[in-house]
Amino acid sequence: MSESPYKSGTTHFGFKDVAAKDKQKLVGEVFSSVAGNYDLMNDLMSLGVHRVWKRYFVGTAQVKRGDRVLDLAGGTGDIAALLKDRVGPEGADSDGRVVLGDINAGMLSVGRDRMTNRGLVAGLDYVQCNAEALPFPDNSFDLVTIAFGLRNVTDKDAGLREMFRVLKVGGQARVLEFSEVTVDWFKPVYDFHSFKILPRLGQLFAKDAGSYQYLAESIRKHPPQEELKTMMQEAGFERCSYKNLSAGIVAVHTGYKV
Ligand SMILES: C[S@@+](CC[C@H](N)C(=O)[O-])C[C@H]1O[C@@H](n2cnc3c(N)ncnc32)[C@H](O)[C@@H]1O
Repeated sequence: MSESPYKSGTTHFGFKDVAAKDKQKLVGEVFSSVAGNYDLMNDLMSLGVHRVWKRYFVGTAQVKRGDRVLDLAGGTGDIAALLKDRVGPEGADSDGRVVLGDINAGMLSVGRDRMTNRGLVAGLDYVQCNAEALPFPDNSFDLVTIAFGLRNVTDKDAGLREMFRVLKVGGQARVLEFSEVTVDWFKPVYDFHSFKILPRLGQLFAKDAGSYQYLAESIRKHPPQEELKTMMQEAGFERCSYKNLSAGIVAVHTGYKV
């Protein structure tokens, strides 16, 4: 495996090479810009399919009522809302909790308003935090998830190590992320959608083509299935595996702390 780019002081922000120390700020600008339109854009870009991926991701996670769960890069709360249904229904006698952690105040604020408007209040905590350096003790959570977030983290190895550290022994970590399309004929169609349609949708509905160009580029720079599996193993996870969804547009990675 090639050396992590941030070790040499540079990394990629989409297709651009940038100083590693600048990436977090650049990613922050993207999500501060898109926060208000984030949910609408997800539905438009994926024609609603992101909801199916997220339901599968949470529905097949190893989690039960009463568990303590961390959803990292939780953004506007789609995953946290689904997880909350599984750790303990609203008002029920259950001490299950979901912590929604995200680095971006704008995304967290949209998420908190959205959850509150849906009546999802009890058993939910919001923590502004960087996935690379989590403010939680070792062995704190039964399940740690990150959906469409790892791609944006500058030092992904550090992020994975932190997920491992805060996970309880016996717990599961899950990563849902864009990955490498596995069906050859579909690749040009997917590229056309990514590079021609997404930035136009971004311009039309969010007045921001650049952030959606970044989205398409960052997907292409993200480690594909086997490489991410190896990164999870190197972070300490065992029984690592992945499942491709929608011909590998996304993959669900799983690992355990044993
Ligand atoms: C594409 S959104 C995903 C949101 C949500 N998980 C979902 O699936 O809809 C990516 C999120 O990652 C967050 N993020 C980016 N870098 C991060 C970091 N280093 N630590 C924690 N969150 C980060 C962003 O603020 C943003 O909310």
